[in-house]
Amino acid sequence: MQGTPPTPRTNIRPATGKLGILTPGLGAVATTFIAGVESIRRGKSKPIGSLTQMATIRLGKRTDRRSPLIKEFVPLAALEDLVFGAWDPIPDDALTAARKAGVLEERDLEPLADFLRGIVPMKAVFDSRYVTRLTNTTNVKQGKTKRDLAEQLRQDIRDFKERNGVDRVVAVWCASTETFIKPGPAHATLAQFERAMEQNDDAIAPSILYAWACLMEGVPYCNGAPNLAVDTAALIELANDRGVPISGKDFKTGQTWMKTVIAPGLKARMLGLAGWYSTNILGNRDGEVLDDPASFKTKEESKLSVLHTILQPEIYPDLYKDFSHVVRINYYPPRGDNKEGWDNIDIVGWMGYPMQIKVNFLCRDSILAAPIVLDLALFSDFAMRAGMKGIQEWLSFYYKSPMAAAGLQPEHDLFIQQTKLKNTLRHLMGEEQITHLGLEYYAS
Ligand SMILES: NC(=O)c1ccc[n+]([C@@H]2O[C@H](COP(=O)([O-])OP(=O)(O)OC[C@H]3O[C@@H](n4cnc5c(N)ncnc54)[C@H](O)[C@@H]3O)[C@@H](O)[C@H]2O)c1
Repeated sequence: MQGTPPTPRTNIRPATGKLGILTPGLGAVATTFIAGVESIRRGKSKPIGSLTQMATIRLGKRTDRRSPLIKEFVPLAALEDLVFGAWDPIPDDALTAARKAGVLEERDLEPLADFLRGIVPMKAVFDSRYVTRLTNTTNVKQGKTKRDLAEQLRQDIRDFKERNGVDRVVAVWCASTETFIKPGPAHATLAQFERAMEQNDDAIAPSILYAWACLMEGVPYCNGAPNLAVDTAALIELANDRGVPISGKDFKTGQTWMKTVIAPGLKARMLGLAGWYSTNILGNRDGEVLDDPASFKTKEESKLSVLHTILQPEIYPDLYKDFSHVVRINYYPPRGDNKEGWDNIDIVGWMGYPMQIKVNFLCRDSILAAPIVLDLALFSDFAMRAGMKGIQEWLSFYYKSPMAAAGLQPEHDLFIQQTKLKNTLRHLMGEEQITHLGLEYYAS
């Protein structure tokens, strides 16, 4: 069986030509992502942390021994074919922005200097009421209405395509977390949303304008922050109407990723939870923005939902009713992008005896986020070519607050998310689903 090409279930368009990746935001995450891709293309780094580049996928029976690399199984854009562009209210090019972000060391940036200098951000749609605490925000579009601003973003996308000879584009939001906005009438239907844009309604934050502009241009949109953006009824409607894949929200990197690894383990063994206290110190610009309580509220909502959904206290009240869950982020400049997180987990075992787990995670936020940006961009482009549209639940694997169809609980368990991702790839490529039943190996 090995080497037999699978029969695709759907007519998947090939990944010919270049793929443009546009990021609203050219800060720590975006520059680490772009520099990393270029370094990999030059053979100087390995794509560590990226499923599209490094993971394999098992096909058929275990005895078939077919486990190709995902990138050899699924027609994904090649790294050589990627072209980058960005919007940012701070006018720094990617080299200056990367140096200021302080994630990558000079010895890694210097060889890429010319390449990074060439990536200059387009003027952003920016309003300091939604992101306080940023300075030097001079690279900003002007317009009478929010609709005008969004139309300028559409024009940017068309110009970017023409300038770079690119026929496919995907967008990944790598800009700051905005202040908390609850879904309201302005987000309820597409017609109401478009009216609200024209009336400069405060419920329409810049992130939503980027999302609208991308969908109007047929550009798949991935939302790396907890902002509403595409997670509104109006934009889900637009994505479905236009046949464009969307996904979000909020990259699942450090502490929340750990939660979605440990919590399924506790639940699998039916161990109880009395409380989970998480605290972080970080000193990057993201930390500074999150120091504003209104931006932190958006992040907190995204971080808190994870444990309840995994542990299901309503089904397991003896184990998980009323556990206490506290999340703190403390801005502490000396640490830069090198976050340190502490988790104290109070668990409960046999006969109610308490135990504790302590996790001390010294992570680098943008180093964890960069491969997620790459995978989301490549998988979203693939989804578009495979005719998928609207919410891509199979990309939940990458998000803290995964989007799901109305009435569905989002899936947070990392291992279920991984199975869903791989089974979606198998499904799209006409391969059998893997159930892990395995009884056939024991039939006499
Ligand atoms: N690094 C991680 O592990 C991680 C995990 C989850 C989510 N995120 C989110 O990813 C985003 C980026 O993180 P970062 O560390 O790169 O932050 P950063 O502050 O270094 O970069 C964000 C950039 O976005 C720009 N920006 C702000 N508003 C904008 C707008 N309206 N249009 C275009 N650009 C705008 C800022 O000027 C800044 O350059 C944040 O929202 C963060 O919460 C990061």
